[in-house]
Amino acid sequence: MLFCKPIFSNFFLINFLALFVERIENKPNNVVIILADDGGFEIGAYGNKIIKTPNLDNLAKRSKLFTSAFTSVSSCSPSRASLLTGLPQHTNGMYGLHQGVHNFNSLNSIESISKVVKQHGIRTGIIGKKHVGPELVYPFDFSETEENNPINQVGRNITNIKLLVRKFLKESANSSFFLLVSFHDPHRCGHITPQFGPFCEKWGIDGIPDWNPIKYDPRDVILPDFVPNTQSAREDVAAQYQTISRLDQGVGLVMKELEHYLEDTLVFYTSDNGIPFPRGRTNLYESGSKVPLLVSSPKSTESWGTKTNDLVSLLDIAPTIYEWFRIPSPVIHRNPHKKLSLPGQSILPIIDDVIGQTRDYVYLSHNLHEVTMNYPMRAIRSNHYKLIHNLASNSPFGVDQDLYVSPTWMDMMKRIRKKENLNWFITLKQYYYRSEFELYDLIVDPLEKNNLASKPVYDEILYNLKEQLLKWQSKTEDPWICSPHAVLEDKGSYKYSPQCLPLHDDL
Ligand SMILES: *[C@@H]1O[C@H](CO)[C@@H](O)[C@H](O)[C@H]1NC(C)=O
Ligand SMILES: *[C@@H]1O[C@H](CO)[C@@H](O)[C@H](O)[C@H]1NC(C)=O
Repeated sequence: MLFCKPIFSNFFLINFLALFVERIENKPNNVVIILADDGGFEIGAYGNKIIKTPNLDNLAKRSKLFTSAFTSVSSCSPSRASLLTGLPQHTNGMYGLHQGVHNFNSLNSIESISKVVKQHGIRTGIIGKKHVGPELVYPFDFSETEENNPINQVGRNITNIKLLVRKFLKESANSSFFLLVSFHDPHRCGHITPQFGPFCEKWGIDGIPDWNPIKYDPRDVILPDFVPNTQSAREDVAAQYQTISRLDQGVGLVMKELEHYLEDTLVFYTSDNGIPFPRGRTNLYESGSKVPLLVSSPKSTESWGTKTNDLVSLLDIAPTIYEWFRIPSPVIHRNPHKKLSLPGQSILPIIDDVIGQTRDYVYLSHNLHEVTMNYPMRAIRSNHYKLIHNLASNSPFGVDQDLYVSPTWMDMMKRIRKKENLNWFITLKQYYYRSEFELYDLIVDPLEKNNLASKPVYDEILYNLKEQLLKWQSKTEDPWICSPHAVLEDKGSYKYSPQCLPLHDDL
């Protein structure tokens, strides 16, 4: 026996053990997030039998698959900012899109994963769509994004993405790393470069060596229940499927590059928000806020190929990554008088199957997409009910530039002008004009069609959900906590006892 031999003095033994422990602790430990842009459930592993996504299906075989994962906000920049900070949009300050005239940025006082882990000596990289700022909050050691490249080259050219991942890994040889591979696929592009098709499915068709485009017959595609049943929508979805083939093959290339790192790497696959169809992206309905989530943990191979219905939020990703790296979650000093801790929880115990259902609710908070689309909403969802509080219910719900010119929406507009049937499960008026409170029973009404908020039998459920939602708004310091019928006063004389002062607007 090694430890019995007299030659090993106590001193030597202690040193030997210390060395051993140190070596374990210094073992590289990495995280990769693969993010799709407006990616939905058009994935074989999620039950779509038409689409061919062998690479995502392979990733699912070495992952735990989440069937009830939600973004907290249904818009690109706010969702990315929430994912990277672990804070809802109303806390991190990214209220709408980052680019151009929209001009939103997170507050300088906010901490993000890339900023925090970098301070702990972990190398950070981003390849593809960044779409968040400022640089102070979202710094990366290695950054190949739309800020220094044409977006399609870093977000849709899978050969180029593969080479950039290779470069990042080579340069990270001696350290742990955090890498965000942020595809621009399968985002629409019809509003910016219509010549490439509604989903950019024709872009690079002969010029991306690693892409074998897969074409789909519009008659074969599976129309989501919430999309109008029209020929235009079928053609739109067929184009989306073709672009998903590029994303899927890109995921395969990234996983191949990671081959020798997988023993030490936690890999996520998810999306920023729902698909860009009517009632999808920019909405807090299931169709706009439920996202795919695969988590591949080398430390719990028993979880591979399993599924869970546990409720999780993309706000849980940041605490998960801090736990993985054994770094304490940052305390946020947004308000000089108060410390704010991250509202999410690590999902590692769910992956390790230590505990089942840990959250009774997930929470959602949305304000804008494009700067013209002010439509603040707050929502709470349990396994049974969803309550949406629309803070601007007297305005029509906005439609973004990208969706408006899509084949699906253009066809709807044409039908409206010609007074033809939309073949949709709701009317356009119902889509534009929403009640202040929407309460849905998700078990009997998964499409969220029958609003129960004004039905007296649901009073207690409504009251309870409203109360839980307000508690969360308070905990996350939501500036809209008194909206829309009162004004929040929390400075000056109200500094120590913030109050909602009523507008008396029930005129
Ligand atoms: C990694 O460490 C080795 C040995 O110290 C060194 O030769 C090599 O240049 C380092 N690589 C990088 C990318 O820092
Ligand atoms: C994609 O990237 C590769 C590698 O950088 C390049 O050779 C190719 O021309 C690019 N394709 C397109 C369509 O730009």
